[in-house]
Amino acid sequence: MKKNYVKTAFELPCGAIIKNRLVKSAITERVSDKNLEPNEKHYRLYKKWAATGAGLLITGNVIVDRVHVESAGNVYVGDDRILPKMKAWAAAAKADNNHVWVQISHAGRQTNKFSTFRPLAPSEVQLKQLGLFGKPRVMTEENIQKVIKGFVKAAVICKKAGFTGVQIHSAHGYLLSQFLSPTTNKRKDKWGGSIENRSRLLMTIIDKIRQAVGASFPISVKLNSSDFQRGGFTEEESLQVIQMLNNKIDLLEISGGTYEKLVFFGMTDDAPKIKESTRQREAYFIAFSQKVRAISQLPLLITGGFRSFDFCNQVLENKELDFVGMARPFITNLDDIPAFLDNKIDKLENLVIRTSFKSLDNAAEGGFYARQIIRYAEGGDLNLKMNPLWSAIFLTYHEFKKGMINKIG
Ligand SMILES: Cc1cc2nc3c(=O)[nH]c(=O)nc-3n(C[C@H](O)[C@H](O)[C@H](O)COP(=O)(O)O)c2cc1C
Repeated sequence: MKKNYVKTAFELPCGAIIKNRLVKSAITERVSDKNLEPNEKHYRLYKKWAATGAGLLITGNVIVDRVHVESAGNVYVGDDRILPKMKAWAAAAKADNNHVWVQISHAGRQTNKFSTFRPLAPSEVQLKQLGLFGKPRVMTEENIQKVIKGFVKAAVICKKAGFTGVQIHSAHGYLLSQFLSPTTNKRKDKWGGSIENRSRLLMTIIDKIRQAVGASFPISVKLNSSDFQRGGFTEEESLQVIQMLNNKIDLLEISGGTYEKLVFFGMTDDAPKIKESTRQREAYFIAFSQKVRAISQLPLLITGGFRSFDFCNQVLENKELDFVGMARPFITNLDDIPAFLDNKIDKLENLVIRTSFKSLDNAAEGGFYARQIIRYAEGGDLNLKMNPLWSAIFLTYHEFKKGMINKIG
């Protein structure tokens, strides 16, 4: 019988050992309380995820500036007062001898108007989507220094709370990804222009976090292979950034796309540049791994589209990557994951949500999965009978309602 590579352990450069190669990639939970703190809902959700047997759980966006949320239900980590609740969250999430890392993030211009009409961003380039995002304010040097401090502080608090690592979110069009992309970063100072300048904020944050957390605490970066947008962050630039990341971090996660191109959801119409050969192999970003391996020794996690055991096992055996990341199967196929890890279930076939309106499909898919997570967090079960059209408007409704509750209590 063929060796089960998915179940083999892996040692990271910092010395931490991950018990197997399956990672629950970040899934925003959207269930913080009105002070943006974690609560029973997080504990319940993460106990479920720990019980799947995955070696590493990465939390959803946890925000370093309370205004710049990715969702009104994010956790915000700003000071030590949050420690007891973060400790309880970490304890619940580590229930099965697994790792749990916090994805720390700042949404920049992708912060919606329910939180602010004037989000901070590298430049004034507004995200034009259903009128939901305001015109950005260009970040001053002071704003930039505050963001750096915010990331470092959050990482230190996560470590103190017992989380076993952090992931810096520099993908999907959030603030650090905005700095990397020439379409959203038009700055003429040391934070814009060349790729060295555009990546300066990310590199500075990593260096300062490393100084603060020490050499043995895992630091990961989630990075786009490309923005898949004309004039955006390209594969060549992504490879240059990866070279700069060499020896700095413990795990590189590859994804791709932004709110304008939801490539990370695998909506292939949104990903015209994804090659046919890549589409035929189930994972969207796997073709990029060869290029990464040619220039980097960093442990590599790729997320997006992995579903079948044989494929995961094969790419691990071929050393195309070191970890397989999944998100949606950790929602609709939760109960099957332990058997999948033992190669007793071949495929985690997640649901794909479609309305009869193409333009609503991305929103329907996002809304459907968001609602299932909230149900789990509240102690409910999977509900396969959700109306796709209601799912499509759910996220806007949720942001409005939760945003109001946060403001007026
Ligand atoms: C409901 C939902 C929430 C997500 N939230 C986040 C997030 O907070 N941070 C992040 O980096 N990616 C997030 N993602 C993207 C996933 O981590 C992953 O990249 C994407 O879903 C592709 O993987 P999959 O095909 O296995 O679902 C989210 C995806 C879903 C479905």
